[in-house]
Amino acid sequence: MLDQLELELLGGPAEARLRRRRPGADDLPWGTLDRTQFSCDGLLEARAVWTNGVFTEYASAAAFASLATAFLECKAPIDLSAAAADIVVDEIDHAEIASRLVMELGGAVPLHANFAMVSPAASAGVSPLVRAAEIAIKTSCVGEALSISALSRSHAVADHPLARAVLDRLLRDEGAHARIGTWFLEWADDRLTPDDRRHLAVVALDAIKVYQPLWRGRCASCEAPAALGGMAVASHAELMVDAVRIRVVRPLARLGIEVDRVELDEVLAG
Ligand SMILES: [Fe+2]
Ligand SMILES: [Fe+2]
Repeated sequence: MLDQLELELLGGPAEARLRRRRPGADDLPWGTLDRTQFSCDGLLEARAVWTNGVFTEYASAAAFASLATAFLECKAPIDLSAAAADIVVDEIDHAEIASRLVMELGGAVPLHANFAMVSPAASAGVSPLVRAAEIAIKTSCVGEALSISALSRSHAVADHPLARAVLDRLLRDEGAHARIGTWFLEWADDRLTPDDRRHLAVVALDAIKVYQPLWRGRCASCEAPAALGGMAVASHAELMVDAVRIRVVRPLARLGIEVDRVELDEVLAG
């Protein structure tokens, strides 16, 4: 069942706890965005980009919650499990900040999702270790690694103080999000069999395929204003293809998870 994306705060002790854990959300330069400075189309695209951003941050929170559970179930080191669980709170903070930016841009565009399916799935019948490795690869080694590239580029061009402050807060946390998968795979290295590694390479390629719309068939005229973190479609596609090769496939190969190069080239073809 598809639902409209909407975030709600309960307030009281639950909100107070979140503010203690992730202080400073109210200190961003809220209220400084003059919507009349942007074209209607540009503003609409920025609302769409950032509405999608709220959803991806929310989905990342669900993914890291699954990762924390999977780490606990395969008896991973407890500091690693704690880090995964703490990242859930980072992502919830990001979702809230992004949604406040969407409000300043004029409100969310319709975005319907099946929230019951928001968590990443793992293959049926695999061991707890391989299950954790699958979720670590999808969530951290692929998803977060690509999101760092996209956010860094947006940060480089965004010159509106509010957009920059939001991107700063998101980027501050993303490095560890993209690395936790590697930390886990390094720990699991001598526990993974050659068959496990071949299986995980297929999982990695499937995870990369999910991001194909980022470099294939994007609407060439849909472009959010650079000041708000938007970028030209062609250069975004090129950036994502490079990020897959350099930030995803190469580090996985160093961990003994070798994605098939021929199939990868097909997936990355424009
Ligand atoms: Fe995030
Ligand atoms: Fe993240």
